[in-house]
Amino acid sequence: MHETKQENVTIDDNNNGTHNLDDGDVINLDHGDPMMFYPYWKNIDNECSVTIKASDMISYLANPKEPDFIYQMPEFIDAVRRMHRVVGNAVTDGRYIIGGTGSSQLFIAAIRALAFTVKESNTCNNKHIPVVCAEPYYSFYKEAMEQERSELYKWQGDANTFKEESGPYIEVVTSPNNPDGRSRKPVVNREEGLLIYDLAYYWPHYIPITSPADYDVMLFTLSKTTGHAGTRIGWAVVKDQEIAKKMKKQILLMSIGSCHEGQLRATKLFHFVADRYEHDAYYEHEKPPMKPNLFDVEGLFDYGHRTLAQRWEKLRAAVQHTGTINLPNFSPGFCNFFGKLTHPTPAFAWLECKTGEDAEILTQKTKDPSKEWLTVWFRCLRKIY
Ligand SMILES: Cc1ncc(COP(=O)(O)O)c(C=O)c1O
Repeated sequence: MHETKQENVTIDDNNNGTHNLDDGDVINLDHGDPMMFYPYWKNIDNECSVTIKASDMISYLANPKEPDFIYQMPEFIDAVRRMHRVVGNAVTDGRYIIGGTGSSQLFIAAIRALAFTVKESNTCNNKHIPVVCAEPYYSFYKEAMEQERSELYKWQGDANTFKEESGPYIEVVTSPNNPDGRSRKPVVNREEGLLIYDLAYYWPHYIPITSPADYDVMLFTLSKTTGHAGTRIGWAVVKDQEIAKKMKKQILLMSIGSCHEGQLRATKLFHFVADRYEHDAYYEHEKPPMKPNLFDVEGLFDYGHRTLAQRWEKLRAAVQHTGTINLPNFSPGFCNFFGKLTHPTPAFAWLECKTGEDAEILTQKTKDPSKEWLTVWFRCLRKIY
């Protein structure tokens, strides 16, 4: 969400005391933008920049030795594996890593690859393969699927109300979920189901890491890991060779691979983040000045979790003032990465109106004087994410 500075605002709590909010940033309710990571990276600009010369990366080919994946930089793949190993959030040994232009592109590639696989096995009797996801779901899935107007697959909405009792289907499992922050499991649970796990937010700043995810098709993105959304880098971790091959083919057809500069930048960022935590472990028993200065910087996940926790705290305080909105509560869990109990701090806040009104419609009506509290409330809060 765009961070727009406003003047400071005070919420008057009906003379029961005032709650001073230290800034008056506006919450943009339209879309997310991970600018909360900006101060972190600004602080280490020089240590983590990539220099690209005019003559660099001219070729289409990034790895001529890998015939079916010539555009993928091997150092990017190595850095992805290292990040997952350091964080412990996904199994990557023996898995195929496929880079793409954000995980949005990989989502389409995965749907197509799975649908082609079903088609080849001839179990779908020429009907569209249903694609479902439990509500509330990330709105992109529906829009992207509907735009495709594919002859192979069709968006069928909420997995909870999916009634077909036989035949193949694709279910998208987003965990933690956008928009409600919940951990999720598949809901249809039939043998013919093919699953895509969108694990964009399965990182320690958002949720406790309880075990390495090990699913057939998993999607991740730089935009939610380090915050570099504009770099447009995502990756899929895929178990099956044939599915991986089909996904690579799709990426090749859509964009002849993904931007080499982006892969290089992601590689640099990943090694910085991983170095920071591995050095921490290495230098655990050493005292400064043995520890290099650079690693005195707060780790990215510590920064992310701390920042989100502060924003949630602020949001909960403001919501209490309104008395009109419910926010979800999340139980803490043991995070293997942090080695302690942590609270989930999702990137999104799922608002529920206690009155039963549609919160989406309400938020569009903030000019209505009877809903003045909403205007104040939205003006006072810093965005969560
Ligand atoms: C659940 C989920 N998956 C994927 C994406 C998109 O990721 P990318 O920026 O890599 O396209 C988002 C962005 O908000 C998201 O919330």
